[in-house]
Amino acid sequence: MAKPVRKAIFPVGGLGTRFLPATKSMPKEMLPVVDKPLIQYAVEEAQAAGIEQFIFVTGRGKQTIEDHFDISYELASTLNERGKKTELDMLRAALPKPGQVAYVRQQEPLGLGHAVWCARNLVGDEPVAVLLADDVVLSKVPCLKQMVDAQAKTGGNMVAVMDVPREHTRRYGVLDVAGNDGKLAEVRGLVEKPAPEKAPSTLSIIGRYILMPEVFEHLGRSERGAGGEIQLTDAMAKMIGRYPFHGLRFEGKRFDCGDKIGFFEANIAYALARSDLAKDVKAILKAYAD
Ligand code: UTP
Repeated sequence: MAKPVRKAIFPVGGLGTRFLPATKSMPKEMLPVVDKPLIQYAVEEAQAAGIEQFIFVTGRGKQTIEDHFDISYELASTLNERGKKTELDMLRAALPKPGQVAYVRQQEPLGLGHAVWCARNLVGDEPVAVLLADDVVLSKVPCLKQMVDAQAKTGGNMVAVMDVPREHTRRYGVLDVAGNDGKLAEVRGLVEKPAPEKAPSTLSIIGRYILMPEVFEHLGRSERGAGGEIQLTDAMAKMIGRYPFHGLRFEGKRFDCGDKIGFFEANIAYALARSDLAKDVKAILKAYAD
């Protein structure tokens, strides 16, 4: 029987240059959508998919991420003194259990593939999920849970995919598809950031992956791809034909929070989805629309 997906990698070693100056001394992954940091959305999504071990690939200046998933004694004691039980309970509920989180440093930001490779010794010989915190997905069933359920049936590698306008293919890893039942696409090839006229389809990968451990061998060869970076897509492409490989058209709406406009849109969408905020946000949006 195929091994279950128990571990997840969160690559958070990037520089976040598109969000300077906000990211000069603060990790991009700590930017909040409404009132929760991007990385917490990703961790909660992984928890909801049954993930038990959380591996963060960090870099310099990312300590606040470690602090975020730790107990803050001073804050807890102050909240306690002030009788703020709701806030205390919320913070406690968000804490992973002792020993569930591990951190490894990516010494240089050489690309997403390199970041994932840095986690190899903590993953070992089992499938692993990869979540990019700057992609958030608003959905009824958390995106990774949809993938884990689908992958339990197909086995092998799986990526979350969505159709993008052809002029945007340069921003994504794009699938060459063999078969397609509308929900699951069988992957025949992968191209990183193709020009629109060269893209084999418009079915593009977002920041959610389930990968077989063999990916680390391919990443270990340190071959540079698009943009001179070690690309995860290139290593994944080497596994096509060796394992089942599927793209899952997930249900939900994805926001690219690594980009300013995507980030603003996510804030609006998540605020509108909140019963305590929706009314006021709608009124503000209406006032600006006039
Ligand atoms: P991005 O492609 O968004 O790069 O990375 P970035 O450096 O974070 O942001 P920009 O483009 O300069 O604005 C996608 C994810 O992969 C991680 C990032 O932290 C982000 O979560 N990443 C990227 C690494 O962990 N290491 C890298 O070398 C590159």
